[in-house]
Amino acid sequence: METLILKVDKSSEGYKKLDIAARIIKEGGLVAFPTETVYGLGGDAKNPKSCKKIYKAKGRPSDNPLIVHIAEFRQLEDIVEEVPDTARELADAFWPGPLTMILKKNKVIPKQTTGGLDTVAIRMPNDDIARELILRSECLIAAPSANVSGKPSPTIADHVYNDLSGRIDAVIDGGHAVIGLESTIIDLTSDVPTILRPGAITKEMLERVIGRVEIDSALLIEDEEQKPKAPGMKYKHYAPKADLTIVEGNASKVVVYVNSKVVANKDKGVVTGVIASDENASRYSAEVVKTIGSIEDEEAIAHNLYGILREFDETDVKEIYSESFEGDGIRGAIMNRLLKAAGHKVINADKEAITRIIFAGKNGSSRSPMASYILKSMDASKDYEILSRGILVQFPEPLNPKVEAVLASNGIEVGDFHAVELTDNDINSSTIIFTMEESHKDKIIEKLEKANEENTFVLPTYVGDELEILNPYGGGLQLYGLCFEALKETLNKLVNILNQER
Ligand code: TXA
Ligand code: MG
Repeated sequence: METLILKVDKSSEGYKKLDIAARIIKEGGLVAFPTETVYGLGGDAKNPKSCKKIYKAKGRPSDNPLIVHIAEFRQLEDIVEEVPDTARELADAFWPGPLTMILKKNKVIPKQTTGGLDTVAIRMPNDDIARELILRSECLIAAPSANVSGKPSPTIADHVYNDLSGRIDAVIDGGHAVIGLESTIIDLTSDVPTILRPGAITKEMLERVIGRVEIDSALLIEDEEQKPKAPGMKYKHYAPKADLTIVEGNASKVVVYVNSKVVANKDKGVVTGVIASDENASRYSAEVVKTIGSIEDEEAIAHNLYGILREFDETDVKEIYSESFEGDGIRGAIMNRLLKAAGHKVINADKEAITRIIFAGKNGSSRSPMASYILKSMDASKDYEILSRGILVQFPEPLNPKVEAVLASNGIEVGDFHAVELTDNDINSSTIIFTMEESHKDKIIEKLEKANEENTFVLPTYVGDELEILNPYGGGLQLYGLCFEALKETLNKLVNILNQER
C-alpha cells in the first residue's frame, strides 16, 4: 500500500484535500491526522474492521483501547450510557482541548474499539483540521497516537511517515502538533474522578471545575506489581534506543556529573548525548547535545521532547543524559513521559558529585582519623579523597596512641600523622563532611562559611543509625576497640549508600 501524503494548510482551499481523507475513513481505511497534542491514527470508530486495522498498523496489543475523537458535544451523547454533570462541566471548560474523558459506553461503539472494555475514552481535539476531518467523514474517529507501538508519539507528519508508511492509506501533514504531549485522561466512571494519564490539563485545573480529583496511584510510584488503570500506561514507552538517564540537582553539578560521564565514555569509545536546556547547553562536552528549550519555558520543552527522543535514534549515541524538568503544570506530564523513557533511571548530581570525604572531630587526633583510616582501608573507597580534620587544632598533635594501637591490631598501618584544622579551603562543591556528634556539626556550620546543612552531617544519622559514635576518650584500649568496631559498622553502611548513589 502506498501512503498518500496530504499537505493541508488551514484555509478553505486546503480543507478541500480533507475530502480525500474523509472518504478513506468512511470506506474503512486509515488516515493519520494532526491534533494539538500529537498526531493520531484515525479510522471509523463504529467499524470493527477499521479498528482492527489500527491495531495491526501500529503493532498495538489489542487490549489497549482507542480514544474516540468527536467534533461536537452531541456526538458524545450518542455513544455513552449517560452524560454525568461532571462531563458537561469539563467539556464546557476544556473542550475542544487536550482532555480525554472515560465514560460508560453504549452499544454504538463496538468492543474492538475499546479493547473489550465497557467504557470508552472520548476527546474533542482543539485542532481545526482534526475536527474538520471528523465532520467531513461523517464518522467518529477512533485514533491512538500515530506511532509504532512503543515509540514516542509523533509530533510532525514525518514521524508518522517514518513509522507507518506503507501500512496506512494517508497522512495529513498539518505542521507541528502545538502541545507535543498526549492528552490528560480522566476516568469519570470511578467514585472519585481519577487521572489515568497526566497531560496539559492538570489536576489543579480539573479540581477548579469539578472538585476533588485523584491520580491513579500506579502513576505515582514505581511498582511493577501495580497495574495502571489505562491499559496503555503499562507498556514500555517512548524509550529511545540509547540508554537514557535523568540527572537532577543543581545545574552546575549536573553539568559536572554529565561531563565526567562523557570523559569516561570517550575512553571506552561510547558516544554520549545530552538533552539540555538552552541555558546550559553550551556547558556540556558531549558529542551530541540537543537543546529542548529554556528552563523557564515548559511549553517549549513539551513541544520538543518527542522529536528529540526520535532524533537520537538517528545518531550513534549510546548513552543519553537529560536534565530534569520537574515542576508544576505540564511539567508533571513532561516528567511522567521522560521517566518512562528513562525506565525511571534518575541520578541526583548533588549527591553524586562527592569526591572528597572529611571526617571532623574536636581536635582531629582520635575518632576522626580512626574513621578516615578505616574508610581508606575499604575497597569501595578508592574513588574518594579521604581526610580527617579537627575543629580547633592549637598545635599539630600526633595520632592518639590508643587509636594507633587499635588500628595496628586490625592490620591498618598509619604513616606520618599530625592533626590539621578544618578550614574553608578544605571544602568545595564536591566535599561532604561527617562528624561523630551533633554538637560538632553545629559548631562547624557556625564557624565555617562553606559548611552548611547540605554538606555537613552527623555520620550515624546520615547512615540511619540512632546512636552517636561513643567517645572513648579517657578509656582503656578495650573502649577504643569498641569504638573501632562501631565505626567500622557505620562506615560499611556509608559505603553502601555512596555506592547506591553512583
Ligand atoms: O492526545 C491524545 O490523547 C492522542 C491524540 C491522537 O488524541 N491520542 C492518544 O491515544 O494518545 P493513545 O491510544 O496513544 O493513548 C490512549 C490511552 C491509552 O493509554 C489507553 O490505554 C487509554 O488511553 N484508554 C483508552 N480507552 C480507555 C478506557 N476505556 N479505559 C481506560 N483507559 C483507556
Ligand atoms: Mg500512544
